[in-house]
Amino acid sequence: MVAARDQNARASSAEAGLPVKRGIDALDVAGRRVFMRVDFNVPLRGGDVRDDTRIRAALPTITELRGRGARLILGSHLGRPKGQVRSELSLAPVARRLQSLLGAPVRLATDSVGPEVERLAGELAAGEVLLLENLRFHPGEEANDAAHAAALARLADVYVNDAFGTAHRAHASTEALAGLLPSAAGHLILTELMALQRGLSDPQRPFGAVLGGAKVSDKIRVLERLAGQADVLLLGGGMANTFLHARGVNLQASLVEREHADAVRAVERRAAESGCRIVLPVDGVVAAEVSLEAERRVVPVDAIPAGWSLLDIGPASIAAFEDALRDARTVLWNGTLGVYELVPFAQGTEAVARFLAVSGAFVIVAGGDACAAANASGVAEQMGYLCTGGGATLEFIEGNALPGVEALPDA
Ligand code: 3PG
Repeated sequence: MVAARDQNARASSAEAGLPVKRGIDALDVAGRRVFMRVDFNVPLRGGDVRDDTRIRAALPTITELRGRGARLILGSHLGRPKGQVRSELSLAPVARRLQSLLGAPVRLATDSVGPEVERLAGELAAGEVLLLENLRFHPGEEANDAAHAAALARLADVYVNDAFGTAHRAHASTEALAGLLPSAAGHLILTELMALQRGLSDPQRPFGAVLGGAKVSDKIRVLERLAGQADVLLLGGGMANTFLHARGVNLQASLVEREHADAVRAVERRAAESGCRIVLPVDGVVAAEVSLEAERRVVPVDAIPAGWSLLDIGPASIAAFEDALRDARTVLWNGTLGVYELVPFAQGTEAVARFLAVSGAFVIVAGGDACAAANASGVAEQMGYLCTGGGATLEFIEGNALPGVEALPDA
């Protein structure tokens, strides 16, 4: 079943003309120490895992490797400790959650390299799991240091990378290590690539893209790429404000990145050249301040009261978005369409999420904010695919190579 899925992923990659990566079915793992790079960089709250999506996403590979008798050594980063040991970024909460998800003991090492960790790795029996302490407690990890990668390689016989969320980082455990041991991509990496390729390389059309988020400057290249590929591009959130501003709309006190107006016009030109329609909000929920208590009104985008800001898309915009997406067969959604953290300004995002869920399109939800919104709206299960990568997904959409994937051998 799992092998069939990897074969499908590889077939899809091949069709898209992309190099096809070797999967774990090609590795002999029985009785061998397998270093598996995972992305367990999960949000914590009160010393516990707040959202275990990324841990659950790695379970298919973990379960298969254990079932095949691998002696499993899991390595991940958590946060950005910058080469220092920071106890609040210990993977202890992750070890507890993984143990309960697996229903099997997960031992946490006190470090990620060194003789004591080598000893623990050596003592593992077939099917047992050792989780290394935060890889980024060592500066050599982010430096992609060769000696550090060699220290990691001493722990294992075989390397598997299933950390799609970290695939855009060329770090010791994501890149250098792949060159030191027989290597393969885990199921998650192959599945993520397949879903993104399905959306971007040869999408079933009409292909719609819904893009939100506060700043246009974070996503200029994503916008350029999608303007050249999508049939319709719907924009919300702060980034839409800069487009509206560039079209001459006075948005009063709303967030606008005036210095990016030219870049936005270039995206508009690109879209016009390639026949992509850009749909912007026509109305919005406005308030004089970003707070739960502030008075709110729904107004057309060109009638915002002086000193007020546009904080969510309004009902006419939601209807326009739904109209524009009605026939879509593939939709890529990234970013929220309003100030999602505050319930009164989350309604536009949630309405569009609910519409997408029943639209019949294959919907790829990319990035943490959009995934969280899909979860909160109770429609995550109905979406085509939820990507676990944030930065990695955006890099992929921009068309950039992902070092963590590149480093793995082709099938
Ligand atoms: C992520 O959450 O995007 C990945 O885990 C990578 O984390 P980083 O941005 O700290 O490298």
